[in-house]
Amino acid sequence: MSPQPSAKAIQRAARALAAGELVAMPTETVYGLAADAANEAAVLKIFTTKGRPADHPLIVHVAGGVDMSGWVSAVPDSARKLIAKFWPGPLTLILKKSAKISDAVTGGQNTVGIRCPAHPVAQALLTEFAKIGSGIVAAPSANRFGHVSPTSAQHVRDEFGAAIDNGIHLLDGGKCQVGIESTILDLSRDVPVLLRPGAISREAIAEVIGTMPLSREEDAARQRGTAIAPRVSGALAAHYAPMTPLKLVNAQLLPGAVDDVLESGRRVAVLAFKAKPRIKPSPVGVGIRNARPLVWITADTDPALYAQGLYANLRTLDAAATSLILVEAPPDAAVWDAVNDRLGRAAVGSGKRETLP
Ligand code: TXA
Ligand code: MG
Repeated sequence: MSPQPSAKAIQRAARALAAGELVAMPTETVYGLAADAANEAAVLKIFTTKGRPADHPLIVHVAGGVDMSGWVSAVPDSARKLIAKFWPGPLTLILKKSAKISDAVTGGQNTVGIRCPAHPVAQALLTEFAKIGSGIVAAPSANRFGHVSPTSAQHVRDEFGAAIDNGIHLLDGGKCQVGIESTILDLSRDVPVLLRPGAISREAIAEVIGTMPLSREEDAARQRGTAIAPRVSGALAAHYAPMTPLKLVNAQLLPGAVDDVLESGRRVAVLAFKAKPRIKPSPVGVGIRNARPLVWITADTDPALYAQGLYANLRTLDAAATSLILVEAPPDAAVWDAVNDRLGRAAVGSGKRETLP
């Protein structure tokens, strides 16, 4: 466990936010790259630092117990119930925004995503910032656009090393407990729609609000015939992606897929539920053997623990710079929805680096 930042370090970071600077902050889901949401110039720095398209809206973060009435135009009953049950925690609510929230935050939409993070460092920062500033902080995941999200301070340094040396404040809050981004629930439409699956499941939401939220696909089918703009960058097929090509394979096909790569004289990295097998001597000789032909991580079989380690595991496998990352597909079951969503997008977005021999 990393040492938690001191009260002084948190005050310094709050002052940086008030001065329009960026702060990389830990949350229980992933690290966020935070700016004062009420300062348009500060918010624009997030987009340039991340290389993020300007029409991708940001999530606004607030401290526990904050009065949101100034920022949203209405808080429906379902939102009140969900807030009482799940905040602080990994649930983002999309609500109709008030005129006070700038277009820079929402990408010009009439809604805003709000969440109250549970991480004590994020809470402390937001509480300090509420004393000296607006108290609302826009923060996307602290990674370059399309990359794997960061779940440790070191991951943030790996993404933005130079920028951190040049003034982005980084608060080290240790490893993120949840490990994947918050659940996003849109309550601004006529029916609740789950825009991004996360640790708080559709079923858990349904228990609180009395109706099952539609999935994105169900909502799209419902609206068939009408054009809908992409509202969640996670809804673009490619996202959360390593540089090495990544393929999902089912358990039965995994051994054959591994052998195929090794037999062609290339190296392969694997994320699987099984333990690493003994590998046969390589037909292409010692060179490839010295280069660790098979890099293997055995993942946790519990979905929450799998999610907690997922991005760190993808980063480790990517850093091994093999020709291919093979991931044993988790079960097609509701408890794996969030993980399967991220893995599917990682597969589509992967492979931007030239493949190495
Ligand atoms: O767990 C999280 O939510 C993390 C931590 C840092 O809080 N944040 C995060 O932010 O994942 P980001 O920017 O990587 O993803 C935010 C997602 C985007 O896909 C964006 O399109 C969606 O939230 N979003 C934000 N505001 C929205 C809105 N008004 N309507 C629809 N989608 C929205
Ligand atoms: Mg992100």
